[in-house]
Amino acid sequence: MVRLLSFIYPITKKVKSEFNGTLEITWYNGKKHLNTKNANYSYGSLQKILKFGLDKMDLSKCNKVLVLGLGGGSVIKTLGKKSASDRSIIGVDIDPVIVEIAKEEFKLSKIDNLKIVCDDASNYMDKNKSKFDLIIVDLFIDTEIPSPFFEIPFWENIVKAIPKKGSILFNASLDSKNELDIINIASFLFKNKFEVEKLEKVNKTNTLVIATR
Ligand SMILES: C[S@@+](CC[C@H](N)C(=O)[O-])C[C@H]1O[C@@H](n2cnc3c(N)ncnc32)[C@H](O)[C@@H]1O
Repeated sequence: MVRLLSFIYPITKKVKSEFNGTLEITWYNGKKHLNTKNANYSYGSLQKILKFGLDKMDLSKCNKVLVLGLGGGSVIKTLGKKSASDRSIIGVDIDPVIVEIAKEEFKLSKIDNLKIVCDDASNYMDKNKSKFDLIIVDLFIDTEIPSPFFEIPFWENIVKAIPKKGSILFNASLDSKNELDIINIASFLFKNKFEVEKLEKVNKTNTLVIATR
């Protein structure tokens, strides 16, 4: 019923979160989205933006995937539609409210090959000893990327976690004020033997960085 009504007008449920402010779960045109006050987090333009990046990558051998910034898990649903024989995914998010929403509202608890970790992505990468074929970095608080994720120590941990061959997809910004930070990260990845591509104004808004070696 809610789904049908949402074709006539959007229906929104609001949930308060210590980390992300007021979160909105909105049924719109028959589809559920997750939004903050100023940003779409999952299943709207964000899902299209990450899909645009993933479509440019060869994912056939990406069996171990790490998603930093689980949100409502829309990129995990996109990955589910792309083939790989035996894929396992770890999704990390700092916000327990988001984790609950992902599991209950977006049914991520039903995905067998997904492990969800509630932790700060910097802490997680400091402790991490595993390797991943693909790491997706999609860390926002509303429209901002927290500053540690523009700093090289975080990216050193990302590079350490990629084997000889592997890829990174970084949802790098909504805002041109981060331009120099993005160039700095791109050149760090280049020095670490990645081929780096910077895509601007994806879906008219975001900068994406794709790095592969
Ligand atoms: C745009 S949403 C992620 C959307 C998700 N990738 C998808 O495909 O639906 C950004 C997420 O980053 C998370 N986040 C922000 N800072 C974080 C941090 N320090 N550690 C882990 N997660 C963080 C937020 O809680 C939010 O859920």
